Amino acid sequence: MLDNLRWDNLVDLINDPPYLVMELMRGGSLNNYMPSLSSKERKDLAKILIFYVGNALKSLHDRGIVHSDIKPSNILLSSSPSSDSLVTKIINGQIKVKLGDLGSAVKKGESALTYSLYSSFDQMVSVAMTSMKNPNVTKLGVFPEDDVYAFGSTLYFLVNQKVLNNVNIYGNNVDIDKWVAKNYDRFRQVNSSNFFTVYNDVMNEALELCEHREVTTDRSQLDELILMMVNCDKRKRPSIDEILRRASSL
Ligand SMILES: Nc1ncnc2c1ncn2[C@@H]1O[C@H](COP(=O)(O)OP(=O)(O)O)[C@@H](O)[C@H]1O
Ligand SMILES: [Mg+2]
Repeated sequence: MLDNLRWDNLVDLINDPPYLVMELMRGGSLNNYMPSLSSKERKDLAKILIFYVGNALKSLHDRGIVHSDIKPSNILLSSSPSSDSLVTKIINGQIKVKLGDLGSAVKKGESALTYSLYSSFDQMVSVAMTSMKNPNVTKLGVFPEDDVYAFGSTLYFLVNQKVLNNVNIYGNNVDIDKWVAKNYDRFRQVNSSNFFTVYNDVMNEALELCEHREVTTDRSQLDELILMMVNCDKRKRPSIDEILRRASSL
C-alpha cells in the first residue's frame, strides 16, 4: 500500500519490509522548537502547518488512506533554524515541514494499529477492539475524521501548550492508557450475546471522556477552526478540503 507514496510534504519513504526507511529530517520534530516560541509565533506556525501538513494529509485522504498517527513528534523539519525565526524560514522555503511516520497508516475503515494522547476517542476504541477474536463482528475502524481530530489536537497543543485530551471527571484525572487497556480486555472477553451491550457502553464512555476535556479557547478564527476539528461528533468535523479552504482566510 505504501508504494508510490512520494508526495510533497510527506516524508519520502522507501518501503522495504520489514523496515520503513524514511528520509532524514535534520531539524527533528516540532517538539524540539515549541518551548522556545512566543504565543504569536505558535499561532503563526499553526496557520502554516494547517497548509503544509494539511496538504500532505489531503494526498493520503484522496487515496483512501488514514495516517492515524498525527502528533507533534511526527511533524518534521528539514533543518534547524539558527538565528532567524522558524516561522519566517518556513514561509520563505528555507525550511521544509513534512508529515512523517507512515508506519501506522491504514486503509480507510480498517482497524487502527496505534493511538496516542492526540488521537480521537473513537480511534482508541478501534485499537481496543483489535483484541476481539470473533471474526463475524465488524470492528470499528479509523477514518479521515480521526486524522482531522489528531491534527486538530496537535494544533491545539501547539497554540495552547496544553494537551487537549486531558480528561477530568469530577476532579479526577482520567488515565487514558488505562482506559484503553481496560477496554482491550473487555473486548477480548466479549461474546456474541453481550457484544452490543459492551460496545454501546464503551462508546458512551468514549463520548463522556471527550465531553470532559479541559478546553480553553480565545475564540479567534484559528481557535474556532481547531475546535471544529476536534468536535466529539466526527460527523461535525470539517474534511481536509474544508480545512484547507478555511485556512486560506485565517
Ligand atoms: N524521518 C525522520 N527524520 C528525523 N527525525 C526523525 C524522523 N522520524 C522520527 N524522527 C525523530 O525520532 C523521534 C522518535 O520517532 P518515533 O520512533 O516515530 O516515535 P514517536 O513519533 O512516537 O516519538 C521523533 O520524535 C523525531 O524527533
Ligand atoms: Mg514518529
